[in-house]
Formats: sequence, structure tokens, C-alpha cells
Amino acid sequence: MRLILLGAPGAGKGTQANFIKEKYNIPQISTGDMLRAAIAAGSELGIAAKKVMDAGQLVSDDIIIGLVKNRLKEADCANGYLFDGFPRTIAQADAMKDAGVKIDYVLEIAVPDESIIERMDGRRCHQGSGRVYHVKFNPPKVDGIDDVTGEPLVQRDDDRAETVKKRLDVYHNQTEVLLGYYNEWAKSGDPMAPKYRRIEGVGPVEEIRDRAFAALAE
Ligand code: AP5
Ligand code: ZN
Repeated sequence: MRLILLGAPGAGKGTQANFIKEKYNIPQISTGDMLRAAIAAGSELGIAAKKVMDAGQLVSDDIIIGLVKNRLKEADCANGYLFDGFPRTIAQADAMKDAGVKIDYVLEIAVPDESIIERMDGRRCHQGSGRVYHVKFNPPKVDGIDDVTGEPLVQRDDDRAETVKKRLDVYHNQTEVLLGYYNEWAKSGDPMAPKYRRIEGVGPVEEIRDRAFAALAE
């Protein structure tokens, strides 16, 4: 299984990626998680990316495309992969197309902007794994603690209300165009084209998981 999860910031891409990667035994390639790992490591990339991410802007296409191409060379991608938060621009999508990176499904998780702010406000993350929780909608077993490792959960720096608004603007201006890009490609009759599936992303996490599994089995 090779797929792209598309959706606004806070649509639940990371949350659903956890279920999908387990079911299909594939690695989750989250460019956001990769950038946050670079920040935590204090690398040159991390230092440069942090400023851009805290401003709610996109990191440059060249950097992101390079990161992903390198990641795809690793052995665990042989069995498939799940892109989370990538591609986010036409240039990134074209780069994958040009490189012949095969995609079976594009799965869009649709969530209206009104639901996003509350989701971000209550989000808590486990840094090492990228596991995400919500204080109200998807709480950990013990407040502030990761279920699997017992390590503390943190809030993301870009989850402040002003930054979330900016990220939503960037999504609508630069990423949403990909919904049409993949939809049209799917309908074009090109045998290389991925199938396009759209699910509603509002409702209990497990219900969305079942919708995602059903969409990927069609
Ligand atoms: P990235 O890490 O990709 O963030 P994002 O796309 O903005 O998406 P999020 O991680 O915020 O949301 P999500 O959809 O994963 O939702 P989640 O499951 O966590 O990118 C961060 C930054 O890195 C970007 O702004 C950019 O600067 C840079 N970047 C990354 N990739 C890039 C690229 N390709 N090109 C350029 N720059 C790039 O859920 C959110 C919350 O909601 C959680 O608390 C969760 O528990 C809760 N929740 C989930 N599902 C539900 C539900 N059904 N009901 C209620 N709550 C729910
Ligand atoms: Zn995410």
C-alpha cells in the first residue's frame, strides 16, 4: 500500500496514519515529524525550519523534496509507505510524479475550519514517535503521559491560535489545489494515476478510522 493522506492542519492525518501504518505494515513519512526531529537534534536544517514553521509558513520545496527522496531510499519503504503532510504544493506533487514515485491511493480527510482551532488547542504530542492525543477528544490513559512509552507529552510550538490561523490560510492558498490535482489525475484514465478517496473527518476517531479502512479497500 502506497498512499498520500491529504487534509488541512489538524484534520487528523497523524491520528489516522497511526492506524493505517499498523494495518498495512508500512512506514509513515511525515515531513512535519521529520522537521521536528531536525529541530530537536539542533541541526542546521532544524534551525532554519523552526523559524518558518513557527510562522506557519511552508519550508522550501527543494528542502522537502530532498528529504523525502532520501527517505524513500531506505529499505523499509520497499513494502509501501504513507505520506502524511506531503505533498503540500504542486511543485512537490510534480516532483513525485516526475520521479515515478508510485501512489495507489490519495485519501482526503475533510474537516471544516471551525473544528480545527479547538483540535489544535487541545493537541498533545509524544515527540519521539509522533503519536498525537487530544485532551478532550482523544485523551491519553494518564494525563500528560504517552500511553506506550510513559514519557511526557508536549504541546507543539505552532499550535498557538495565531499560527494555526496562518497555517489554515497557507493550506487554502497553497495545498488545497492538490485536491483538484489528484482528483483530475484519478479521472484522467492514466494507469499510473492513484485512486482518489474522500472521507468526512468529523466524528469519533475510531469511526474515521473505519471510514478510512473502507475507502482504502474499494
Ligand atoms: P505538519 O506536522 O504536517 O502539520 P499539519 O499538516 O499542519 O498537520 P497537523 O500535524 O497539525 O495535523 P494532523 O492532520 O496530523 O492532525 P492530528 O492527527 O495531529 O507540518 C507542520 C509544519 O511543518 C508546516 O506548517 C510547515 O511549516 C512544515 N512542513 C511540513 N511538511 C511540509 C511540506 N511538505 N512542505 C513544506 N513545509 C512543510 O490531529 C490534530 C488534533 O485533533 C489532535 O489533538 C488529535 O488528537 C485531534 N483529533 C484527531 N482526530 C480527531 C477527531 N476525529 N475528532 C476530534 N479530534 C481529533
Ligand atoms: Zn500531523
